Amino acid sequence: MPTFASQLNEQIRYEFSASQQYVAVAVYYDSQSLPGLAAHFYRQAVEERNHAMMMVQYLLDADKDVVTPGIDPPQTDFADPVAPVALALAQEKRVTDQINALAALARSEGDYSSEQFMQWFIKEQIEEVATMSDLLRVVERSQDHAMDIEDYLAREQLGEEGDDPTAPHPAGSGA
Ligand SMILES: [Fe+2]
Ligand SMILES: [Fe+2]
Repeated sequence: MPTFASQLNEQIRYEFSASQQYVAVAVYYDSQSLPGLAAHFYRQAVEERNHAMMMVQYLLDADKDVVTPGIDPPQTDFADPVAPVALALAQEKRVTDQINALAALARSEGDYSSEQFMQWFIKEQIEEVATMSDLLRVVERSQDHAMDIEDYLAREQLGEEGDDPTAPHPAGSGA
């Protein structure tokens, strides 16, 4: 039986993998001269890294082992500008399932502080899936007019994080 702490270590690996995948997506868009999409995914990459570091800090605070993980190589080749967003949406949906499973595991262990810790991530996943679904619709609709996507991103400030006082503290961020 995996424990909450061991599964959270697994999740740290998934979050770093997501971060690296978003770097790869951003670099792809930069190479296609789509700077708005590139900027969006560079930002997402930092957010995913922060998710990993929030989990690292939580385990440190709980006096549990933290294993800094290696990760699998990200996908770097894409058929067209729609493909990376479709991949990103699938990734966010997968993470939502993982986060929900972590909350359920914490509850089954009677570990209510860990269950509480997962609440912020549950809320975050709802936003990230919604944002990525919107973006997928826009890139699909604008397939032959990539500049329309760039205009959309410039207008919408998609997925911009304001200051969120309820966000867990990422390890090493000094805040
Ligand atoms: Fe994440
Ligand atoms: Fe995410």
